[in-house]
Amino acid sequence: MNPTTQADLGTPESILEEIVTVEIDGLPARVKAGSTIMRAARESGVDVPKLCATDSVKPFGSCRLCLVEVEGRNGYPASCTTIVEEGMKISTQTDALARLRRNVMELYISDHPLDCLTCAANGDCELQDMAGAVGLRDVRYGYAGENHLDAEIDDSNPYFSFDPSKCIVCSRCVRACDEVQGTFALTIEGRGFESKVAASINESFIDSECVSCGACVQACPTATLMEKSIIDNGQPDHSVLTTCAYCGVGCSFKADMKGDQVVRMTPYKDGQANHGHSCVKGRFAWGYSTHKERVLDPMIRESTDDPWRKVGWEEAISYAAQRFKDIQKEYGRKSVGGITSSRCTNEEVFIVQKLVRAAFGNNNVDTCARVCHSPTGYGLKQTLGTSAGTQPFDSVMDADVIIVIGANPTDAHPVFASQMKRRLREGAKLIVVDPRHIDLVRSPHVCADYHLPLLPGTNVPIINALAHTIVSEGLVDEEYVNERCDLDSFAAWKECVLKPENSPESVAEISGVPAEVIRGAARLYGSAENGAIYYGLGVTEHSQGSTMVMGMANLAMATGNIGFSGRGVNPLRGQNNVQGSCDMGSFPHELPGYRPVQDDEVRGLFEKLWGVELDPEPGYRIPNMFDAAIAGQYKGMYIQGEDLAQSDPNTQHVEAALGSMECIVVQDLFLNETAKFAHVFLPGTSFLEKDGTFINAERRINRVRPVMKPRQGKAEWLITQELAQALGYDMSYSNEAEIMDEIAELTPTFANVSFKFLDEVGSVQWPCNEKAPMGTPIMHIGEFVRGKGLFIETDYVPTEERTNRKFPLLLTTGRTLTQYNVGAQTRRTDNVVWYKEDLLEIHPHDAETRGINDGDRVSLSSRKGDITLTAVVTEKVQTGVVYTTFHDPETGANVVTTEYSDWATSCPEYKVTAVQVAPAVHRSKWQHQFEKRAKKQGKILETS
Ligand code: SF4
Ligand code: SF4
Ligand code: SF4
Ligand code: FES
Repeated sequence: MNPTTQADLGTPESILEEIVTVEIDGLPARVKAGSTIMRAARESGVDVPKLCATDSVKPFGSCRLCLVEVEGRNGYPASCTTIVEEGMKISTQTDALARLRRNVMELYISDHPLDCLTCAANGDCELQDMAGAVGLRDVRYGYAGENHLDAEIDDSNPYFSFDPSKCIVCSRCVRACDEVQGTFALTIEGRGFESKVAASINESFIDSECVSCGACVQACPTATLMEKSIIDNGQPDHSVLTTCAYCGVGCSFKADMKGDQVVRMTPYKDGQANHGHSCVKGRFAWGYSTHKERVLDPMIRESTDDPWRKVGWEEAISYAAQRFKDIQKEYGRKSVGGITSSRCTNEEVFIVQKLVRAAFGNNNVDTCARVCHSPTGYGLKQTLGTSAGTQPFDSVMDADVIIVIGANPTDAHPVFASQMKRRLREGAKLIVVDPRHIDLVRSPHVCADYHLPLLPGTNVPIINALAHTIVSEGLVDEEYVNERCDLDSFAAWKECVLKPENSPESVAEISGVPAEVIRGAARLYGSAENGAIYYGLGVTEHSQGSTMVMGMANLAMATGNIGFSGRGVNPLRGQNNVQGSCDMGSFPHELPGYRPVQDDEVRGLFEKLWGVELDPEPGYRIPNMFDAAIAGQYKGMYIQGEDLAQSDPNTQHVEAALGSMECIVVQDLFLNETAKFAHVFLPGTSFLEKDGTFINAERRINRVRPVMKPRQGKAEWLITQELAQALGYDMSYSNEAEIMDEIAELTPTFANVSFKFLDEVGSVQWPCNEKAPMGTPIMHIGEFVRGKGLFIETDYVPTEERTNRKFPLLLTTGRTLTQYNVGAQTRRTDNVVWYKEDLLEIHPHDAETRGINDGDRVSLSSRKGDITLTAVVTEKVQTGVVYTTFHDPETGANVVTTEYSDWATSCPEYKVTAVQVAPAVHRSKWQHQFEKRAKKQGKILETS
């Protein structure tokens, strides 16, 4: 067996608690009732041979290799499908069993190419292992008969190949696709000798419904489904446990290594967020870390008209520090600031915010959460008392009714989506609130009970109408509210939601969702034993984002749906460490742990440890930074791993702001869009080079471990530390663990956290301190963090952004499965096979009235600007609504988005832009400018 192979106990763990005693090969064993004999044996250290069984899917009982003898029973039951009983006496090794197993293996091998020595799976093949285990020495049937040895290889998927000549038709792949992933892309076609694995209706993998999650590859016991990286590079010799650096699910992976080269990322079975599952991004799209466009040398330039000049680290850092110092001298202490990255580790983020506060001497620090989940932080803190989701992902398995609002989990949080779909297949009910017909509305074996296809911008009326129905129809959990919530606020909220304008009939008129659908959904959620809300950026990225978050918390409190497994209000966080970057004090008004900078006592703690006086005034938020830059008051910015020029709304305004600054330092992997405005480029590290922690959407602190040395020669925290030192502030950590120790010392919710502790326990969900030494999977048990749950009235204040004759359609934006955020990483992987550009989805009716056909180039214009892109005519969007993604800088989706933002947090209103779509006549002015800048960006002088 390969040293990187994970243990396989043959069949899934029994869910029963009761213990039974059995005898296996003469030795007593105590195992869970409901276990299969195979599982019981393997847990007791006895390996029963197997081929069609694996512990990630239900047993199937087809290969007949796992036969055992049970005293008092006739024949030879399959151990993978036979359940243990109290007192059962089992023999796994007898002469009769050995003969039977050899026979089975002979049949398999007689239709298998015997090229083990040159096979990519050599050393990691269960068929090979089983041949050895049963002592197979010859094959009596010969190889002359009919066989599948000439079956054609399907190489269409960029990441794995399918070689049917090696298939033993065990159906592990089919079951993995059904049960683990929930895509149902594979079937066993034909019968008997003709049986074969087929993708969709006998298509190639690339043309089938397969979403490249890799579950089938993981499950395959032979070399039939095999990673191309293993075929090309050979088997790994060791592995390092780490965490995916894409979305907020935070999947654990084994980076399987051959020497110092990564040859595969294998989802880790004991990963507490993913339980051995993965999606196409984490599993396969890691090649960007060695992409040829990655910048590995620090670079500087006087002006953005100059070409970049490669320099040494010392020169780059002292150049940046000097420019910041000069700016502060000329324009004042508050004229510079920094942005932390939700892609970086907590340790890297912590010291960037520390640099801003301690070395720049102000609080001008913000993070990309500003433009995604800042309303979550605000809304949940106001109502419940803490700025984070309430449940672990596993809680969904106890949910009876699930509401998904403004989130598209199958694309943006695929591993959690698979878990949710598993629960839905078990019978949980589903309500989808989304302007688009997302996959969850209807996909194989999943059909939403209610889909509320609301018009973008009408979330708040919908949540109010749901609440109206729940209150007016007596579905409030009075006992829960009386016991746990603030009753004055509850009374005021009740009055608010009962207003006539919040009735389903009134809301139907503005949202476009029929009143009976709203009522039906409300009744379903309101009468659920366990009702769970999951939401995404379709909630937060609105001018009423914070109102909507509070509206959902109100609804959950009113129905008693917080503080128990299966319930809760759960933000699906976009980026891998967006929770962590917020926790680490990346906001201008809060120190780590969400404590106000104005609080003298809190500030005092930090001042004492950091040996510096801190500014008591909150600093600029990102939009304020841009406005101040245009006003000539904000001149320098240190940007860690964030592409403001592509990801922030109203691109031309952002570009004007960046273009007016005197020193922009970009720390990133690639020369991104923001780097076009930069004066210093400090190359960053990929997650494969980082040592630290990420925090996922369920507050889980996961370890990130380096599998290679920083390719550009310096850890990112060290770059920040040296910049702080060059600015005159003494930072002197010797490693990442020390930074976490300081975080724990200063942040009560992290008090018990250290690298050592995480390495021992795997991962932990904060708060993790004296009160909760092993962390807190479910928040607000028994009592809300703030004491009594606070209801907040959620009157609807419509956005200023309205459709009119000139801009009659509403644009909303989102993500697609194979791409991630601004696409900087995923566009530099083979994921581009599935996604070449941002597309504009438009309803057939809207397309027809504009003379637009599927695949046409169209112009998309708003009052902020216009771009051209390719149209997809589809009923996924309703009439009056168009949709696009923002992964491609060349498309410039944010050229059209506006300056409107959430009233409480300034989170931009990406989800509602009044636009017009027309056949494209020429490329937009902005796109011409983009091309010009791109040419200039390419100019780099080799040495200083
Ligand atoms: S990669 Fe995933 S989706 Fe595709 S066939 Fe395999 S299990 Fe199914
Ligand atoms: S492809 Fe692999 S997992 Fe699927 S049936 Fe064939 S051998 Fe089994
Ligand atoms: S679901 Fe998210 S964390 Fe998990 S592998 Fe995919 S991108 Fe990575
Ligand atoms: S492993 Fe039990 S029948 Fe195949």
